[in-house]
Amino acid sequence: MAGSSFGKIFRITTWGESHGPALGCVIDGCPAGVELSESDIQPFLDRRKPGNAAVATARKESDICEILSGVYEGRTTGTPISVMIRNSNQHSGDYDELKDVFRPGHADMTFDAKYGIRDHRGGGRSSGRETAARVIAGAVASKVLSQLGIKVEAYTRSIGPVESDLSDYSRSAVLANATAMPDINANARALEYIADLKTKCDSCGGVMECIISGVPAGVGDPVFDKLDALLAHAAMSIGAVKAVEIGDGVLAASSTGSRNNDSFKALQSGRIVKRTNHSGGILGGISDSSDIRVRCSVKPTPSIAREQKTVTKDGENTVIAIKGRHDPVIVPRAVVVLESMCAITVLDAMLNGMSSRIDNLVTIYKK
Ligand SMILES: Cc1cc2nc3c(=O)[nH]c(=O)nc-3n(C[C@H](O)[C@H](O)[C@H](O)COP(=O)(O)O)c2cc1C
Repeated sequence: MAGSSFGKIFRITTWGESHGPALGCVIDGCPAGVELSESDIQPFLDRRKPGNAAVATARKESDICEILSGVYEGRTTGTPISVMIRNSNQHSGDYDELKDVFRPGHADMTFDAKYGIRDHRGGGRSSGRETAARVIAGAVASKVLSQLGIKVEAYTRSIGPVESDLSDYSRSAVLANATAMPDINANARALEYIADLKTKCDSCGGVMECIISGVPAGVGDPVFDKLDALLAHAAMSIGAVKAVEIGDGVLAASSTGSRNNDSFKALQSGRIVKRTNHSGGILGGISDSSDIRVRCSVKPTPSIAREQKTVTKDGENTVIAIKGRHDPVIVPRAVVVLESMCAITVLDAMLNGMSSRIDNLVTIYKK
């Protein structure tokens, strides 16, 4: 299958199906010398796995990672890093009835149209479970970025109609709240909303946002590989993400030039900063040193227990009510996936940017 790799220098390839024996990620192009062990990756995976029954499926995915290559005596060697997660607790039988039926809102019909064969169990390659492999690479990228003073942090902005109050943003609340919202009140209201939807056999969507801080000015390219274009590609490749915005995003269309432009200011140090950040940290495809803001709209979980009209593989009209264990809302578990895709993208853009000036080559190579 084409299209399972992402990035140019820090290049990741994910593999494996939801109900196969294992899945994982191969990361090529990670610099040598990075201290790395499973304990750097596991906390990221723990944030993605289902756990909180209120917002996530009752599925128990233990998601324990094993580093198979690319690390020697606790440090990366510069060779491909391969990390695997063995699948367990799959309950493939839950999917027997779906073998020949296309689930509305899923990739079943389109995947079949393309390949003519698919592992239908748990969504196979199109499953949200594939994102566990991205989170492995995201943990590694975040570790490298942290050595450069760069932080990548995502959170839930809204679930259904419930919006977070961002005036009191707290990272510890994001990590503690079942919804990954930074606000305790919004978390409580969102949980009530989700509980009500569950009684109606329905699901909802929401918005998640990632803030990347500490990226210096000058990262990204001016034409096809604009940093915002790469981030949009990265974010939109996450299942169920339906729109991506950078900075003010769609609101910029109804603003005016005088409001939307971010005025510059020179600091005493000579550093140039912006007085506002409508641009979301990127101008002309290149980072401007302000926080980079990436916001994603996520659709409602397609698997719902309510009866829906559909068709079989043979073109018969039928109805379906999806059994099995599904998240009533995807956003809380997708937050760490967005964070991971942003970290991978920014690190790759930074590694690419190292060849943009002769001075960089002189610094590295001239003895
Ligand atoms: C982390 C994550 C978990 C997901 N979990 C579920 C789930 O439990 N049930 C479900 O129906 N869809 C889930 N999805 C969404 C589907 O994978 C996705 O909507 C589907 O493959 C169709 O792709 P599209 O929505 O991008 O068109 C999940 C997505 C992500 C990113």
